[in-house]
Amino acid sequence: MSLKTICTVMGARPQFIKAAPVSRALGTSFREILVHTGQHYDYGMSDVFFQEMEMRPPDFNLGAGGGTHGEQTGRMLVEIEKILDSVKPDYVLVYGDTNSTLAGALAAAKAQIPLAHVEAGLRSYNRAMPEEINRVLTDHVSSLLFCPTDAAVENLSKEGITKGVHRVGDVMYDALLYNLASARKRSTILDSLGLEKGSYALATVHRAANTDDPARMTAILNALGLLPTRVIFPAHPRTRKMIREAGLSVSSNVVMVEPVGHFDVLILQENANCILTDSGGMQKEAYLLGVRCITLREETEWVETVEADWNKLTGVDGNAIRSAFDGWHPAGERPALYGDGQAAEKIFQILSGNVL
Ligand code: UD1
Repeated sequence: MSLKTICTVMGARPQFIKAAPVSRALGTSFREILVHTGQHYDYGMSDVFFQEMEMRPPDFNLGAGGGTHGEQTGRMLVEIEKILDSVKPDYVLVYGDTNSTLAGALAAAKAQIPLAHVEAGLRSYNRAMPEEINRVLTDHVSSLLFCPTDAAVENLSKEGITKGVHRVGDVMYDALLYNLASARKRSTILDSLGLEKGSYALATVHRAANTDDPARMTAILNALGLLPTRVIFPAHPRTRKMIREAGLSVSSNVVMVEPVGHFDVLILQENANCILTDSGGMQKEAYLLGVRCITLREETEWVETVEADWNKLTGVDGNAIRSAFDGWHPAGERPALYGDGQAAEKIFQILSGNVL
């Protein structure tokens, strides 16, 4: 019997991290074709993750990064359609909520190839976020919906999606369990930045709602500048560009560095006194590592972390950020919100047809 073919479409930093454990689980039981859309293309945003995750190079690289959302998604769609036409996979597999996710989903739906969505069912209920549009549309054309949390299953059910829905846990947790040991052995980031455990906060900002609004970006930089701690700030290209173009100033306690690889970011998170971010992945990693997280947004898809009191939603309000930083230290338990670290294995079993 010939192997079933899965076409994995990815293109942005967190997708390389999420795809790695699933690719390992698929192993040689499937023929997996890797399509990199090229949404992220810098060494520090892409190649370093393939090296650290020990992923083989993609079979196709579409070079479709940059441009407006429509141009970017459209270019990807045209190219993915050609690949699906020649490869004729049994499934298309997409991750998360980026433009690469949506392009893969639309290409699969139009070619009538079953679509499997990892990280299905997440909602911020904020339609101004491009990610929200991407994830809602992707879920509505998926045949298999792999949900990380109970809340995600409920969100889908509210939209009438109950068929093909599997609560498998979060592949980011699988990734974290796998990568943390290597990160502890290999990362030298603390030494190279002269940091000790608990002596600094870690901040990242890349959401368009923050980076593309000078008033919000200014409010974030001011709040970071007033924290009574050193703040390590690996800046996404989008963020760096905004700071440069708007001529925003960065206080001396804020150490802006290039984006770091996954091993380094895990070590920076594990040893921080606080994480301040608008990233979705880092809100969960903070929880899993037992580090408090201040989320620089008004809403989150990862509501469980807030309910468990490990995450505070402050938006960009300087007073709220400062009072959370000074006065809030989660003492609570950390229940297993994101599964048992075997999400990729469950996905493999379902794709293999062993679970209905
Ligand atoms: C994308 C995703 C977001 C995800 C994030 C992870 C969408 C709509 N957003 O946002 O959900 O959380 O990735 O990082 O898909 N750029 C570079 N070098 C790169 C990559 C990007 O300079 O390697 C520049 C681009 O040219 C662009 C900007 O950064 O000007 C933003 O890139 P974009 O592809 O829009 O996505 P992200 O902001 O990274």
